[in-house]
Amino acid sequence: MSKPHSRAWVREAVRIIEADANRSADTHLHVFPLPPEWGIDLYLKDESVHPTGSLKHRLARSLILYGLVNGHIGPDTVLVEASSGSTAVSEAYFARMLGLRFVTVVPRRTSKEKIALIEFYGGECHYVDSAPAMYPEAERLAAECNGHYLDQFTYAERATDWRGNNNIAESVFAQMRAERHPVPSWIVVGAGTGGTSATFGRYVRYKRHTTKICVVDPENSSFYGAWETGAPDYATGMPSRIEGIGRPRCEPSFVPGVIDEMFQVPDAGSLAAIRLLRDRTGHWAGGSTGTNLYGAFQLISRMLADGQAGSVVTLLCDGGERYANTYYSDEWLGEQGIDLAPYRARFDEFLLTGRFDA
Ligand SMILES: Cc1ncc(COP(=O)(O)O)c(C=O)c1O
Repeated sequence: MSKPHSRAWVREAVRIIEADANRSADTHLHVFPLPPEWGIDLYLKDESVHPTGSLKHRLARSLILYGLVNGHIGPDTVLVEASSGSTAVSEAYFARMLGLRFVTVVPRRTSKEKIALIEFYGGECHYVDSAPAMYPEAERLAAECNGHYLDQFTYAERATDWRGNNNIAESVFAQMRAERHPVPSWIVVGAGTGGTSATFGRYVRYKRHTTKICVVDPENSSFYGAWETGAPDYATGMPSRIEGIGRPRCEPSFVPGVIDEMFQVPDAGSLAAIRLLRDRTGHWAGGSTGTNLYGAFQLISRMLADGQAGSVVTLLCDGGERYANTYYSDEWLGEQGIDLAPYRARFDEFLLTGRFDA
């Protein structure tokens, strides 16, 4: 057990992180155009405009503040994580701001774009052969180098303040206040750690809103099975093709008790949806945003069939520029055997008639 770190250093570290938050404006809430006569409005919370380009900017800030206030992080602490994605990019940004070394354990096959982004913010990548090996290796590395394992999968649900404190849910409800349906009928999100769905689910219950939470899950992921069976140790052992969401095992920060509904979404559907989003709104987004949109369309077509008016909010989780050589490359789609055309036809049918056969 290490001695408490210098309080003066911790005070200054918290000031620096809070100052960064104070310099940042809130992320936008965009409207996705639907036929007005439907009486249903669809919104996208654009988390790609955070300084580090994704919703993980919020989580990284919370995890590092959580480590600081718990006495786990001091002036010589090496910060360690198990992430090849958005979380590592954002954690590297904050580590550099505090003058701390940041090492993330990543699978050897991680895209060079992601590695470059982590290194751009001063992070170091430590390679392992397989995804499941990331967690024990991060533990070992942290123990070996006087480090602190930030461990997003365990602490995401604990480090984020679900009561408010400018969390993503409080921001959405504040930005919906002047809309014709200010209290959404549904909020649709994916799950990587499960932290975002836990924050929304807890917030709407704490604020006594009638809003329901729907979590969308990509192919091969464990969350749907865990929610449906109630088995917290549910595991498929298979990786997801949609970056940021879907896990080989059900993660500790996944809180099924606050989730009202779940949908499994085909990868081709997710990737067709982000092309539709680009064509209809000009916004470029990553695959997990497509998974969100697909789920939102399913719920809206059901609301229409039930004659229910209202609003649906989902997330634009990260920018599409990171996926120029994958999701936005027809060559890559061909190699993956992914055909977008059938799903594009369903979306066009949905936006004309309101019918969406998922
Ligand atoms: C691009 C993207 N979308 C969605 C998510 C899911 O967020 P959460 O981890 O809060 O479940 C992640 C998480 O890593 C992500 O990177």
